[in-house]
Amino acid sequence: MSGTDPAGARRKLDAPRNLDDELDAVTEHWFPRVVARVNDHYLKVAKVQGELTWHAHDGQDELFLVLRGRLTLQVEGREDVILEEGDVHVVPAGVRHNPVAEEECWIALVEPVDTDHTGGAPSEKRRSIEEQLG
Ligand code: NI
Repeated sequence: MSGTDPAGARRKLDAPRNLDDELDAVTEHWFPRVVARVNDHYLKVAKVQGELTWHAHDGQDELFLVLRGRLTLQVEGREDVILEEGDVHVVPAGVRHNPVAEEECWIALVEPVDTDHTGGAPSEKRRSIEEQLG
């Protein structure tokens, strides 16, 4: 896996960052914003409302942390996972899931740098890593 961030990244990730400031910069639901990189994973923040889309990440676990509000993770073949503020949950690699928020919810995500946040599923909400770094 590459040790460098994609060309075209406009923000430097090596300076200290503040989650509130990062969330202030988020203006679009389901558009993750990369905050930091640790080894081959990114920490991202996002504001979500409504639903994303059903998808899975082959070979890649995905960590959700709710910062504000409530997030429901619909998980194929399992009970819904309801996450309140401060709750953390990891969706295992390959498990189909669909994040849903009835009201606006702020989340942090930890996932490998090459994770496609819709798992490659076509969606108007899909954003490239370059966009998430922008
Ligand atoms: Ni996912």
